[in-house]
Amino acid sequence: MIVDVINGSAPMKRLLISGPKGGIGKTTISRNIAVAGALAGFSVATLDLDMQRGLTKWFSKRPDDMASITHFEATMLTSDVQDALAGIVGFDLLIIDTPPSIEDHPESFKILAGAADFIIVPTGSSDDDLDSVRPWMQFVKSTGARAAFVLNRVKPRATGFIEAKSILVQTGHLCPIEVPDYEDIAFSGNRGIGLLELKRAKGADHIGGVWHYVKAEMGL
Ligand SMILES: Nc1ncnc2c1ncn2[C@@H]1O[C@H](COP(=O)(O)OP(=O)(O)OP(=O)(O)O)[C@@H](O)[C@H]1O
Ligand SMILES: [Mg+2]
Repeated sequence: MIVDVINGSAPMKRLLISGPKGGIGKTTISRNIAVAGALAGFSVATLDLDMQRGLTKWFSKRPDDMASITHFEATMLTSDVQDALAGIVGFDLLIIDTPPSIEDHPESFKILAGAADFIIVPTGSSDDDLDSVRPWMQFVKSTGARAAFVLNRVKPRATGFIEAKSILVQTGHLCPIEVPDYEDIAFSGNRGIGLLELKRAKGADHIGGVWHYVKAEMGL
């Protein structure tokens, strides 16, 4: 790990969660990775760039006695994105949640991709999902950024997503652990906590696995 010689700490890593489709799990994955990182002892900040403010609403419900996360909000205006990236410093990990139709903000996206250490592109396994995320991954890769798909809302015990996996790996990297469609994931989100903060939660191994994948990919 490269250590900052001035303040003695490792440089902050930025994880960008993006994808063209709405409702695919960007905010869900953002908050669950944030919680996993905070529980693992990292100082974690989150940045909500979506004017729907889903991540901000989750954060506002967060009970005081949960693992500490520092939250920021900004818009997708290029100047706002630049200011936010310049202003949020000193954490171990910054997780950036983006709005749907991210392709409408190519300039801001390029700034974000240039600053990100890793990009997660959440996707479902339907043909519609694959048709929208595959060209998006091509664009993400064209920026030179490191990125991977994460399959989300996979039906428990379903096997059909193996086909989706084999299509996705033709376009980009794929997190080997998928996130199932579990009520506990939505339930914990509605309470301002992460799945890993819910006792005996279904899906904890999967969320934990995605976190370990991201952590390893980012060299955290
Ligand atoms: N793995 C999952 N299991 C159960 N529910 C899920 C899962 N992933 C997401 N959801 C639910 O699906 C809905 C949409 O998820 P989420 O808000 O994370 O998507 P999004 O990509 O951020 O959407 P938007 O583009 O509108 O910001 C939420 O109600 C969330 O609780
Ligand atoms: Mg969202």
